[in-house]
Amino acid sequence: MTDALLEAALQARENAHAPYSHFRVGAALEDSAGRFHTGCNIENATFGLTLCAERVAAFKAISEGARAFRRIAIAADSGTLAPPCGACRQILWEFCGDIEILLVNPRGQTESHRLKDLFPRPFDASSL
Ligand code: THU
Repeated sequence: MTDALLEAALQARENAHAPYSHFRVGAALEDSAGRFHTGCNIENATFGLTLCAERVAAFKAISEGARAFRRIAIAADSGTLAPPCGACRQILWEFCGDIEILLVNPRGQTESHRLKDLFPRPFDASSL
């Protein structure tokens, strides 16, 4: 695999804190300057306070001043490559718009999607 963003998502997955689901996820969000912002899922004993990898990556990026994004890679170990959950689609739309979503697993299988295709009629600032 030659795409460094995919490698960064797989590497971020290594830090996942997933003692309840054992489903480890990593994400790497590339900003318009080419900088990578990574995240992993972080679970909690309440279950409901769990944070997804994509939102950790997005909020880290925003908190560091990044405001424009190109792509996000999401890594999970599943036969059917795992797309972002609904809550993450909403957050990614808010901050990233119609970016490329790359899915990857540790065996090197990949898919590319546009967020607009996964989230076709978003609620956003234009709805207010
Ligand atoms: N998870 C993510 O990190 N991203 C997603 O888009 C879907 C789900 C995490 C949350 C939880 O820790 C585990 O995967 C199982 O749902």
